[in-house]
Amino acid sequence: MARVFSGVQPTGNLHLGNYLGAIRNFARLQDGNECLYCVVDMHAVTVWQDPEELAKNTREVTAAFLAAGINPDSHIIFNQSRVPQHAEIAWIFNCVARMGWLNRMTQFKEKAGKHRENASVGLYVYPNLMAADILAYKATHVPVGEDQKQHLELARDIAQKFNNDFGTECFPIVEPLILDAAARVMNLRDGRKKMSKSDPSDNSRLNLNDDAETIARKIRKARTDPDPVPDGSAEGGNRESRPEAFNLLEIFAALADKSISDIQRDFGGKQFSDFKQALAELAVEKLGPIGSEMQRYADDPGYIDSVLSGGAERARAIATPIRDEVYDIVGFLRN
Ligand code: TRP
Repeated sequence: MARVFSGVQPTGNLHLGNYLGAIRNFARLQDGNECLYCVVDMHAVTVWQDPEELAKNTREVTAAFLAAGINPDSHIIFNQSRVPQHAEIAWIFNCVARMGWLNRMTQFKEKAGKHRENASVGLYVYPNLMAADILAYKATHVPVGEDQKQHLELARDIAQKFNNDFGTECFPIVEPLILDAAARVMNLRDGRKKMSKSDPSDNSRLNLNDDAETIARKIRKARTDPDPVPDGSAEGGNRESRPEAFNLLEIFAALADKSISDIQRDFGGKQFSDFKQALAELAVEKLGPIGSEMQRYADDPGYIDSVLSGGAERARAIATPIRDEVYDIVGFLRN
């Protein structure tokens, strides 16, 4: 049985990309593994978060985990800041990781942009905290999207350097489970951009808490081109020439758990209006219940809070002896 760890930032507007790219897979990994799924509030505050929104978004990610079918009794759902061992081990990793390693992180460069001098120090050491999240449990399997691959490699380097420096085998080598490239969901208004929580147009994404009517409307309004549904032939075009058309096909395939060619066989050559109708029905069928479950949880924050605090207690029970082991290896006196 492998120990699986992953995290989602509570930064608002959970959408179809988060579901197909991460949360749905988290649910599927429950079988045969011991899973820890963490709402990484400490990562979120590496950029400014309004305190009330942060609390609301932390509950919302938790609700999405539950609505997607993650069982909080057989697995562990919690928020990061409730388990101080993450920060404690992260400090050690701040002293293990090298500036040169962090300077290579492309996500920092993207997020800090031109104003690097003005980025928080937390944003810079973000990957060290992420390594601590995983290694505080000696987790071996980490489902993440393609964009987190470099951070996971850094986690491996940190574990290796720690083991080397101190002559131990304390930390395991982490295996990334890179999630389905097919689940790369694009913007409904511009198929060349990723679906994103920060796009100003709400019509550009399907939010996980959209109701059935909103889902159907957004799909009807999704941008396409005048040609029929691609049928797999050269004339049908490709992702490059028809990004919006292929995005809708991919969303259909992912929601139906089928291949693109299955969908092309059913819809290739037909008008997009018919295809969109079918896609709207499918999306409402698959996402509608998640949205209404999330709404139910939003009305019962007490339940969500009990899931998080119960999960954190069980997480601390695993992470405390590992933190103790680390402190002993480093030479910190502790009792
Ligand atoms: N950085 C990840 C993201 O933005 C979230 C995350 C934090 C994470 N800690 C983690 C993912 C540990 C996997 C394992 O998607």
